[in-house]
Amino acid sequence: MDTGSKHAPPFPLEILHGIDFDCLFKPDVLVNRVPKGRLAGAHRERIMDTIQAVRGFKDILPPETGKWQFIERLARGVFTDFGFMEIRVPILEKTELFRRGIGEATDIVEKEMYTFLDRGDEYLTLRPEATASILRAYLEHTLYAADPLSRLFTIGPMFRRERPQKGRLRQFHQLDAEILGIDDPRVDAELIVMLMHFLVRAGLPDIHLEINSLGCPDCRPALRDRLIAFLAGKQADLCEDCRRRMNTNPLRIFDCKLQTCHEQLLSAPKILDFLCPACDAHFRTFREYLTIANITPEINAGMVRGLDYYTRTAFEVTTGALGAQNAVLGGGRYNGLARELGGPDIPGIGFAIGLERLLSLIEPNDAQLGPVPHLFIAFLGDQAGRVAFDLANGLRKAGIRTEVDYAGRSLKSQMRRANKLNCPYTLILGDREIAAGVVQWRNMRSSLQETLALDGLFETVRGKLLEKGQTLV
Ligand code: HAM
Repeated sequence: MDTGSKHAPPFPLEILHGIDFDCLFKPDVLVNRVPKGRLAGAHRERIMDTIQAVRGFKDILPPETGKWQFIERLARGVFTDFGFMEIRVPILEKTELFRRGIGEATDIVEKEMYTFLDRGDEYLTLRPEATASILRAYLEHTLYAADPLSRLFTIGPMFRRERPQKGRLRQFHQLDAEILGIDDPRVDAELIVMLMHFLVRAGLPDIHLEINSLGCPDCRPALRDRLIAFLAGKQADLCEDCRRRMNTNPLRIFDCKLQTCHEQLLSAPKILDFLCPACDAHFRTFREYLTIANITPEINAGMVRGLDYYTRTAFEVTTGALGAQNAVLGGGRYNGLARELGGPDIPGIGFAIGLERLLSLIEPNDAQLGPVPHLFIAFLGDQAGRVAFDLANGLRKAGIRTEVDYAGRSLKSQMRRANKLNCPYTLILGDREIAAGVVQWRNMRSSLQETLALDGLFETVRGKLLEKGQTLV
């Protein structure tokens, strides 16, 4: 058997004889069950290597998941207050969607997409962002026919094959919001107001908003000509990508990650000096309405964003606390995207927040992190165990978050676990108490204890929790 092949199992198949198949997913169990002599050195070592997650793909473990739930709850609440509705779109799309949507000459499309030929049929891509997918769904289901104005948001994983480093993953998560069907600068300002409100509620310490206008197909040709002329003398100092993009898509050079290319652009012509009257008026009104909302952004004339679909308003929120990957979020207007995807002329604007980056910057408090158990049941003895099992089920059905430990530990270690789980109260059951029809109710903070009758216990416990201000569903 060829165990060296990429697709063959990393051990000879004969050793599987008589082994429970579940064990295949637990290599340590497999190794322990296979007699040493039958599993020679290299094979044994390969099985013993536990399988690791793919580079750049991260598990999100408890209690960290509490932070995720907090931010998702907050986003749903704030976005709903601003009239947004949730949309859920697939993770896999036709590659063509991103090629056309994001642009052929972008880093994302040229280098970072996870694309594969689906059984020789068609090219598919794991979505590197959500805007193109949301617009695809919006056009495919003609949502504009039911309502000319849609406010949509989605939360989920995106995939880009970048070089992993702090703040940069290959699977990361975005909180994405889009407003479709209106090209009014007041809407651009309203979107920023919602964003700032959300970031403040999330507890983001230091918010730095940068804005720019990227013009429209009317104003860009003049900039393009001037930029090509400007760059002509600097070709030798530009990287290979920038030299190539100089003629195909010169604005992309502003987005190059290399410092050497950036330096060449310090005195380059900027789009703000080429805005047509309509784009100029849009940008002015946008800024005026930000001022009304007491928001003072910095104008960054060199910001072009990494995706080709943007027109007019563009923005980013950065923070010094993130190091090189300093963008917490980015967004902008994309009035030509619906047309580019084969739909009618429908304007849009949106943003996407990088959740890993946002979460690395905030420390939600205990109340924000979500509920701890209401109570713990500690028991000693067989009969007490049966009652504890029955009580826990009943209490949970009555909306009381209950923890029990069936590991047969001493009362002391059960109490330690109750404290570790932050349970404010413990019900203590022993066989003797059960025989007498009572249980002990212990306040874990004050250590005060009282005796409660088993009869009518659910109602008594409910009453006690409500009396102490606990919220029950
Ligand atoms: P983007 O600037 O490519 O925009 O991504 C938005 C945010 O996603 C970034 O600011 C960053 O926080 C996060 N992000 C991007 N790549 C990574 C990565 N490899 N690892 C961790 N976080 C990352 C968009 O995706 C646009 N679709 C935004 C938009 C929505 N524009 C209009 N509507």
